[in-house]
Amino acid sequence: MKNNFPGKVAVITGSARGIGKAIAIELAKQGVSIVLNGRNQQRLLKTETELKKITENVIAVCTDVSDASASQNLIKAAIDKFGKLDILINNVGVSMRGTMAELNPDVYRKVFESNVLGAVNPTIPAIPFLRKTKGSIVYISSLAGIRGLPGLSAYCSSKMALRAIAESIRLEEKKHDIHVGLIQVGITEIEHNKETVSADGSLMVLQPRDKAKVQTTEQVALATIKNIKKRKFITTLTAIGKLNYFMQARFPMLVEKIILKNLHKFEEKSK
Ligand SMILES: NC(=O)c1ccc[n+]([C@@H]2O[C@H](COP(=O)([O-])OP(=O)(O)OC[C@H]3O[C@@H](n4cnc5c(N)ncnc54)[C@H](OP(=O)(O)O)[C@@H]3O)[C@@H](O)[C@H]2O)c1
Repeated sequence: MKNNFPGKVAVITGSARGIGKAIAIELAKQGVSIVLNGRNQQRLLKTETELKKITENVIAVCTDVSDASASQNLIKAAIDKFGKLDILINNVGVSMRGTMAELNPDVYRKVFESNVLGAVNPTIPAIPFLRKTKGSIVYISSLAGIRGLPGLSAYCSSKMALRAIAESIRLEEKKHDIHVGLIQVGITEIEHNKETVSADGSLMVLQPRDKAKVQTTEQVALATIKNIKKRKFITTLTAIGKLNYFMQARFPMLVEKIILKNLHKFEEKSK
């Protein structure tokens, strides 16, 4: 795929709100035709109406990407409407709270269905179309995918799985010139009522975040677009994220010591 965006077609999973919606808006501003996705039809249609103020070339597909055949329908809808696919952003993901000792095993099922199967299911049917356009597959990961963190084992391992998946596809699709990117996102602003999976497997609403201390969804969206334009592999966001990535690769035991010293902060956050 060439670097100029006008005329390109993008599917963004989980784009009714949050980071996915911000990516859809920024891509639409750059002339890309957009396929929105989410499970809640009302929220999705509201976002579609907002996007239509930027571009007429937008459709909304209400499907759950943790389901393989629903994901096939998502890619088919993009092809039926726009005739091709240039960019697939696998953005769907849910976090969790709780140490391994206190987890209901269902937490792992929920997190992996959403974060891993939800990223693999759309990728498989998209590959034949992305080969034709020499397009991009991007995985929205997290700084939590750099190393295992206390109280976040299911989330960290699901995001680490995305790295392995991305590495495999990069090698497999090199001959077809598909770009594969991985965005390691830091703590970002969240929308009202964003949920996480609690230790007992139920969904709980997250507390609002201090906007001064976190990235905006627009910053994440612009970094994602830069990753696609430059056809980069890994983009790591925030200064602390870059430091963490560097330190974990070179001094993993030092990082472990620092985390152990600050364990109380992780315990506070997981409440
Ligand atoms: N926010 C952060 O601080 C942060 C930090 C690091 C990484 N990330 C990563 O960034 C990504 C987006 O996070 P976010 O904070 O923007 O999330 P969010 O506000 O909860 O938005 C998630 C979006 O995905 C949709 N969705 C969820 N499950 C789905 C499914 N199975 N099928 C289809 N759509 C689904 C949701 O709509 P419906 O509920 O209507 O389906 C919603 O539109 C995630 O992968 C997350 O792990 C976020």
